[in-house]
Amino acid sequence: MSTPPLSQDELKALVGQAALRYVVPGEVVGVGTGSTVNKFIDALATIKDKIPGAVSSSVASTERLRQHGIAVLEAEAVAQLSVYIDGADEIDAKGYMIKGGGAALTREKIVAAQSRQFVCIADESKWVDTLGAFPLPVEVIPMASARIMRQFAALGGQASLRLKDGKPWVTDNGQHILDVRGLKISDPLGFESEVNQWPGVITVGVFAHQKASVCLLGTATGVKTYTF
Ligand code: 5RP
Repeated sequence: MSTPPLSQDELKALVGQAALRYVVPGEVVGVGTGSTVNKFIDALATIKDKIPGAVSSSVASTERLRQHGIAVLEAEAVAQLSVYIDGADEIDAKGYMIKGGGAALTREKIVAAQSRQFVCIADESKWVDTLGAFPLPVEVIPMASARIMRQFAALGGQASLRLKDGKPWVTDNGQHILDVRGLKISDPLGFESEVNQWPGVITVGVFAHQKASVCLLGTATGVKTYTF
C-alpha cells in the first residue's frame, strides 16, 4: 500500500524543522512571519537553550516566540544577524520572492536586510516561473492609496485595499495594505526599485534586493535545497 502524500501543513512542518540546521548556536536568529514560520518557531523551541534569542518581524511571531520562552530582542540591539528564516508567497528559480500575504512585509524586509543569509522555507505550491500570480502586497501611507492604485493601473495591475471586518487592514506599523492583481513581474529587481520610488509606498512585497540565499522547498519527495 502506498503512503498518502503529505498535506501542505505537513510540508510546512518539514521545512520548519529542516531550517534548524541553519541556526547558529550562540547567535541570535532572525524570524519571519506566517504559518510556515510558525512551524519553524515550534521547532526552534526544542533548541532554545542553544541561542540567546530572536529578532522578530511581527507582533504575531513575537507572541509565539515568547509563548515558547524564547527571548525576543529589538532589531536595533543586534548589529547583524547570521541568518533570517522566513516563508514566501511565491519564490522563483533566482530566489526572488513575493511576500506580505501576512501583512508583515516591512519588518520582514528590515530584518532580512540586517541578515547575512535569508533562508526561505516554503511548500512546493509557492515555487513559480514568474512572480505575480499571487496578489502583490504593498504597504502604503493611507493618504497616498488612491494615487498608488492609479499608478499600478498604469502598469496593468488592479490594486485593492486589504480589508478586515469591512475596515482597512492596519499593519503592525499603523499603515494600510494594497493587494495588486494582474501583474507579471519579469524584472523583479527593476520593478522593486521603481515602485520603491513612488511617494507613499512604504514597502513593496517584491523581495529581489533582499532575495533568498537558500530555499528549503517541501515537496512530495522530501525537502529540496536550492542555493542562489
Ligand atoms: C507574511 C509573509 C509570509 O512569509 C508569507 O505570506 C507566507 O506565509 P505562509 O507561510 O503562511 O504561507 O510574507 O507577511
